Amino acid sequence: MSSDQSTGSETAPMDNLSHESRSFAPDPAFARDAVAQQSLYAEAGEDRLAFWAAQARELLTWETDFTETLDWSNPPFARWFGDGRLNAAYNALDRHVEAGNGERVAIHFEGEPGDTRTYTYAQLTEEVKKAANAFTALGVTAGDRVAVYLPMIPEAVITMLACARIGAAHSVVFGGFSADALRSRIDDAEAKLVVTADGTWRRGKPSALKTAVDAALADGKSTVENVVVVKRNGEPVEWTEGRDQWWADTVETASAEHTAEAFEAEQPLYILYTSGTTGRPKGILHTTGGYLTQAAFTHRNVFDLRPETDVYWCTADIGWVTGHSYVVYGPLVNGATQVIYEGTPDTPHQGRWWELVQKYGVTILYTAPTAIRTMMKWGEDIPGQYDLSSLRVLGSVGEPINPEAWMWYRRVIGGERCPVVDTWWQTETGAIMISPLPGVTAAKPGSAQVPLPGITADVVDETGASVGDGGAGYLVVREPWPSMLRTIWGDPDRFVDTYWSRFEGMYFAGDGARKDDDGDVWLLGRVDDVMNVSGHRLSTAEIESSLVGHPAVAEAAVVGAADETTGQAVIAFVILRGSAADEDHDAMSETLRQHVGKDIGAIAKPRKVLIVPELPKTRSGKIMRRLLKDVAEGREVGDATTLADSTVMNQIAADFAK
Ligand code: WT7
Repeated sequence: MSSDQSTGSETAPMDNLSHESRSFAPDPAFARDAVAQQSLYAEAGEDRLAFWAAQARELLTWETDFTETLDWSNPPFARWFGDGRLNAAYNALDRHVEAGNGERVAIHFEGEPGDTRTYTYAQLTEEVKKAANAFTALGVTAGDRVAVYLPMIPEAVITMLACARIGAAHSVVFGGFSADALRSRIDDAEAKLVVTADGTWRRGKPSALKTAVDAALADGKSTVENVVVVKRNGEPVEWTEGRDQWWADTVETASAEHTAEAFEAEQPLYILYTSGTTGRPKGILHTTGGYLTQAAFTHRNVFDLRPETDVYWCTADIGWVTGHSYVVYGPLVNGATQVIYEGTPDTPHQGRWWELVQKYGVTILYTAPTAIRTMMKWGEDIPGQYDLSSLRVLGSVGEPINPEAWMWYRRVIGGERCPVVDTWWQTETGAIMISPLPGVTAAKPGSAQVPLPGITADVVDETGASVGDGGAGYLVVREPWPSMLRTIWGDPDRFVDTYWSRFEGMYFAGDGARKDDDGDVWLLGRVDDVMNVSGHRLSTAEIESSLVGHPAVAEAAVVGAADETTGQAVIAFVILRGSAADEDHDAMSETLRQHVGKDIGAIAKPRKVLIVPELPKTRSGKIMRRLLKDVAEGREVGDATTLADSTVMNQIAADFAK
């Protein structure tokens, strides 16, 4: 299944096989729910659409009920609950207050410097109403787009819900992305408003955010009319009169009276950009009714949520889809109490996360394998210093979790008593698709295991035929699901090409997978040129195009090399242009690393830029990244017989080893 271009299939944790026989029986503590959950599989198996319709009605409050569950008359363009009407923010906020839960804590916020804020549902509702009024006063109306460039502070959640409340789509841009990346996303979505902060705290130091917004908008030619600025850390900011507004002056002074208007179920809720196989990020569009149904359903069932008593904490940043579905929409629609933490896990010390679990009595923790592996490296005596006995469910997301990390998570963090749920999904799927259910599924370290009720995920071969147990191939979804992406913003053809053209009538996820002898699914990594670095998706093409955009670079090839902690690391091979080739290579490599950081963001900076005289190409001129990956991963170089010049790889391997 791998081609010359394939970067994903070889990144699988190869030790999976040896652990396959290990499994943990369902925990009896979950037995009561298990019976109910088992019946969900049966119900969904019998009638998938009736199942989702029932979930939509049970989990959400509709202003107008829907009569049609799914309109799939124009595939792959789906309409879920099409004639129903609802308001996302009302579902996440007001109705909990109306139900008498206004005093329940929605957010325990902890800033990196140790400042704290608590918002009850009543308070959060009030803040969102003010922001909705303020954004409306700035001219934002239903159907508009709002760019959000904020750190992990409550205002991020408030902003997203205020947009949803007035029917405007938010486009959150991760605060680690560069000014250029921000601008291209603003332009693509034609955003009218940007909400940002003066800065944030990173590893004990203030770091600026608004400067990037200023740089992004410097030419005065964007569609942005206003910038609302939260004061977070007192960083000095430049001010553009007429355009810039302090949050304190606009939002905090606005009226707290606001009635949420219902929108149709297919009203765009947000755009979130993600890397694809070409240089240009894709604006993934999610809409309201179906997305909220599946976000709430999965949050409730995968984590066995009990909103009255649980304290939930998802460590993801709102700049990624996990922050959308499992910090903002899932938990709040379910009326959960959650922790939001602004900073890094090692500030001011490496026990910070565990200190927070102890302090707030966190019961459900959802994080990424890369974080777990980092904590493993720091040593188990660090979590050992804290009382983690409140924890009862542990989740993992973002990349395949190697069995060692899974076992460590279960033993050291979960005290051998908490089920670990490895959840597979994507920006495009909107919500969890494949995951064990606590108490129902016997857990297997390293496997995401089974499609959730109502999800028809499968593994198929080259021809699209389902592989049997023990077989490997491509992960697909056979039938539409409620939280599926509706299109790529402004590019429906790319939507069809990327996801729906590989296999007739099926959604192609871009991941390799296999089924073990029990039929459980094991994810094997991407089969396209998308890398996964610390659970963040990066495109080889995007980084290559940044590198060749530098005047010193003639050609570039980027691969993701397996890395113990981050999953993959970005390794670049570049050929310099003419006279640049004579410059000091170490200095030039560093210049190019910084260049990528400035172009895309610090997360995209290659770990290593190797300057090479030639790249390995086939006779037809195609770069054989597979061979570069061998070098980058310290393997013997594979079959190079199709190279135009077979000596090229010897030189590259020798230089890399230096
Ligand atoms: C890609 C999606 C899902 C939110 C965070 C990432 C990989 C994600 C798992 C998992 C194996 C996983 C896949 C997928 N991935 N979760 N549990 N096991 N791989 O969202 O940036 O859209 O990336 O992340 O390769 O395609 P994303």
